Amino acid sequence: MIRLEGISKEYFMGDVEIRALAGIDLSIERGEFLSIMGPSGSGKSTLLNILGVLDQPSSGSYYLEDVDITRLRDKELAQVRNRHFGFIFQSYNLFPELSALENVMVPLMYAGKARAERLRRAEELLHHVGMGHRLKHLPTQLSGGEQQRVAIARALANNPTLILADEPTGNLATHQGAEIMALLQDLNRQGTTVVIVTHDPSISTYGKRLILLRDGVIADDQAI
Ligand SMILES: Nc1ncnc2c1ncn2[C@@H]1O[C@H](COP(=O)(O)OP(=O)(O)OP(=O)(O)O)[C@@H](O)[C@H]1O
Ligand SMILES: [Mg+2]
Repeated sequence: MIRLEGISKEYFMGDVEIRALAGIDLSIERGEFLSIMGPSGSGKSTLLNILGVLDQPSSGSYYLEDVDITRLRDKELAQVRNRHFGFIFQSYNLFPELSALENVMVPLMYAGKARAERLRRAEELLHHVGMGHRLKHLPTQLSGGEQQRVAIARALANNPTLILADEPTGNLATHQGAEIMALLQDLNRQGTTVVIVTHDPSISTYGKRLILLRDGVIADDQAI
């Protein structure tokens, strides 16, 4: 599904060059559940953001279903993002002024769905993640684990082929983290490809493949 070839990313801070990624070759097949680990600053978030087309590499090629998407325009990239990817972040990133239901309806609006369909689908997704009893709650009225479940429902709104999660359990208590991981595992069993970044070795074991990043390169890549 995805093939990265020689992906590098440099940031410039004045005259100082920071190499976040230094020649990443990586293939991801449909249906995989991939964990990315590595020390702080090793490039995990940079890699995830490039995989999710939230960020562009400095050099290298990114093939999504055999199309080199580094050549696409911004508008086309936004379409690729909406059609293929669902994002989950450590800090949930819900819209604070919107209810759980309205948060999940947002990506459905961008996809051009009619209001009745948005409502129906958002309710169905929230029920699916065990949040059917909190539709009207604002993010501040939900626990961390509940907010993350709403974020997952939102990430699933447009049936993504790939879920990208950056430290999805980083702010959660152990039992809440385990519930979130069980949900992601369930999605993976139903065919969604999942890539997660984590610091926590016990979280990485939910995956089927583990990649270790060190100083912007893949130091290890193995089935687990
Ligand atoms: N926007 C930016 N401008 C400059 N340097 C950056 C930027 N984003 C990241 N970096 C640098 O690139 C390197 C990789 O950062 P990245 O966020 O990918 O690390 P990480 O592995 O996700 O770390 P952590 O585990 O702490 O989240 C770091 O040295 C970081 O300081
Ligand atoms: Mg990071």
